[in-house]
Amino acid sequence: MRSKRSRLDRYLSQQPGIRAAEIRPLISKGRLLVDCTVATSISQVIDEFSRIELDNTLLQANKPTYIMLNKPPGVVSATRDTKHRTVIDLLQRVDRDKLHLAGRLDYNSSGLLLLTNDGRWSRRLASPQSGIPKVYQVTLENPVSTAYVTAFEDGMYFPYEGITTRPAQLKITGKYSAEVTLYEGRYHQVKRMFGRLRNRVTRLHRSAVGTLQLDPRLAAGQYRELTTCESSAIWAGQSGAAISNSRCR
Ligand code: URA
Repeated sequence: MRSKRSRLDRYLSQQPGIRAAEIRPLISKGRLLVDCTVATSISQVIDEFSRIELDNTLLQANKPTYIMLNKPPGVVSATRDTKHRTVIDLLQRVDRDKLHLAGRLDYNSSGLLLLTNDGRWSRRLASPQSGIPKVYQVTLENPVSTAYVTAFEDGMYFPYEGITTRPAQLKITGKYSAEVTLYEGRYHQVKRMFGRLRNRVTRLHRSAVGTLQLDPRLAAGQYRELTTCESSAIWAGQSGAAISNSRCR
């Protein structure tokens, strides 16, 4: 999803009822407010969340929205699907059609899924370059061996994409279970990595993305808005401590 950054004159020229020749005089006469401040330049950069007023008429006032959902298995990570229920169908919100997914989970996977109307935010989360850690609890068909730790750390070559996966961490949590931390999000990455080791994933649950932990109060299918502190934490880098839900409102 592209961020809707634009020059003020370009934005105004796309508004019904405003002619190109009117734009400069509107600004020079101080009739336009951007974020409650009189606009002084036609080349000022605005985005989809800038509040824009002409005289006393509100042209735009969008609020960024960030949602954490506990995705249940059996729901598609998509905004539309002809066959299955989507994560958007789980939201009882009037603005749900304005939201898009910041990352995906497979149909049978569960856990932390993020939705937003902020394209810059979702791009930051999705970009392999950001190196934002994603933590998965995995259950496997066959026993987990200590050799897996090195295999995940060394990375695996995926010929389809022509890439070697970044070093990832694997912690053995039981005979058939492990916690995996990835720093990128390649297609079916966890399942494909275990597939290389000839071990099938039978359950996959995402418990954290960056500093965000799935809120334990959210049952499968439930969701809540992120606090400002939680949503802004993704800009702080990869190493921040987990955001405690009680500390950050
Ligand atoms: N890796 C997978 O294989 N599936 C997911 O849903 C997420 C990561």
